[in-house]
Order: sequence, then structure tokens, then C-alpha cells
Amino acid sequence: GVMKELLGLRDLEAKLRSRLGVKEAIVVPGDSDAFTWVKRELGRACIARMKEAVKPHDVIAVMGGTTLAAVAEMMTPDPNMETVTFVPARGGLGEQVENQANTISAQMAGKAGANYKLLHVPDQLSEETYASLIAEPGVRDILEKIKSASMVIHGIGEANTMALRRGSSEEFLHKLTEEQVVAEAFGYYFDKKGTVRYKQRTIGLQLDTLDDSKLVISVAGGASKAEAISAYMNYRPSDVLITDEEAAKRLLSM
Ligand code: F6P
Repeated sequence: GVMKELLGLRDLEAKLRSRLGVKEAIVVPGDSDAFTWVKRELGRACIARMKEAVKPHDVIAVMGGTTLAAVAEMMTPDPNMETVTFVPARGGLGEQVENQANTISAQMAGKAGANYKLLHVPDQLSEETYASLIAEPGVRDILEKIKSASMVIHGIGEANTMALRRGSSEEFLHKLTEEQVVAEAFGYYFDKKGTVRYKQRTIGLQLDTLDDSKLVISVAGGASKAEAISAYMNYRPSDVLITDEEAAKRLLSM
């Protein structure tokens, strides 16, 4: 029955909290690897949690990916968000337009009735371009905004999947396997233990600035992401993990 199922999900949430060290876990039924509607359920849960936490004039930084695109899809108008500004957490990670952090941030703002700011950065950044970009006054302004974010919403990907999606070289893919690099988040690649092994050069939020002043919400589901979620949480347990039943079960059986 429904009650038993709910109890099952609450039980998975409690186990995830103690296993991963996250302050809060929210588990939705199903498997987002198998059904796209489950991704929208992750999105619905994420929006509800964001609305609970939001304060006037907050800056909310969001990442890209298909999961975050599903979060944006589920956003609805909210008077408490009128003074909020959405910003992309980091720029230029080689996603398709609809899955880019810029697009997702603008879409969330549009649907919520909030404001947004864009961050224009090419995908491939040379050392020199990087240096001159961060010296631009317009870029500096938005980088300050990103730093000041009180909420950060991001996805977690499986390292190989993300490297393939970004058209990385054979050589890089090989290294990932060899070094047991299993997770990707924010453009950083992590091994099983949660150690950062590679980092995509782009501007925006740097991982080591995620401190207690920010509410960090990670959204990732599907059994195929279990190992990635676990590895990322070894780096830094998030405040809130929103995942699905199959990812949770796989993770807890590892
Ligand atoms: O590329 C942006 C990003 O947020 C990555 O950091 C993350 O691994 C990925 O998207 C998640 O994408 P998806 O939700 O499509 O699995």
C-alpha cells in the first residue's frame, strides 16, 4: 500500500543520511534511468525544498545538466522569489544550450517571476583568456554575485558519461578508468574516495568556496549514478541530497 511505500522511502532517507553524512535526504519513488518522469519528480521535490528555504534578495546559483533542466521545468510562480536573483554557478562546461547553467538559471527565474544574470564564457578557456575574462568589470560583477549565493543547486554525473558528453579525448577517458575516477560535479572529476582528480578550467564558483553559509542541494537519481553520488559525498556531504529510490537502493547495497 501507499503507507508502506512511504515508510520504505523514509527508511531509505534515514539510511542515506547516516551513510553519506548529508544533513537531509529526500527520496522520490522510481528510477530516473528508466523513466524521464522520475527526473521531473526529483525536480518537483527540489523546487519545494528551494521554496521552503528561500529568503528575500537571495542569490541562487544553479548548475547545468538534464536533471537541473527538469528542476527548472517544475518551477512555478512564487511571490517570495520576486527579489531573488538566479545565476549560473559556473560557465562553459560544453553542454547543449538547453542543459547549460545559463539557460536553466534564466528559465527558473522566468517561471518563478525572479531575476537572473548571465555569465558568458567560452567552453574552451586558455590560460590567457581566463586571466583577461576575470579582469572584465562586467564579469567581475557576476562573479561577486555567484560568490554571494546563499543557495547552490547542482547535479552529479557519472565521470565517464560526462567526459563522453563533453567530447573528451580517448586519453582522458582512459585516465578516468585507470584512476578510478567515478564522479563529476561542477566541472570537477572525483575518484571513489572523493578526491578531486581533474578540474575543467572555467570561471564561476570554485568548489572550495562551498562553506556553511550556503545551502547546497544536490539532485541526482538513477541507479547508474549511485557510485558517483557516493564518491561526491565523500568529497563534501551536501546539506540536502535529492535522489530516487533505485539510486538509493544501489548506493546502500554497495
Ligand atoms: O555539466 C553540468 C553538470 O551539472 C555536471 O556537473 C553534472 O555531472 C551533470 O551536469 C549532470 O547531468 P545530468 O543531470 O544530465 O546527468
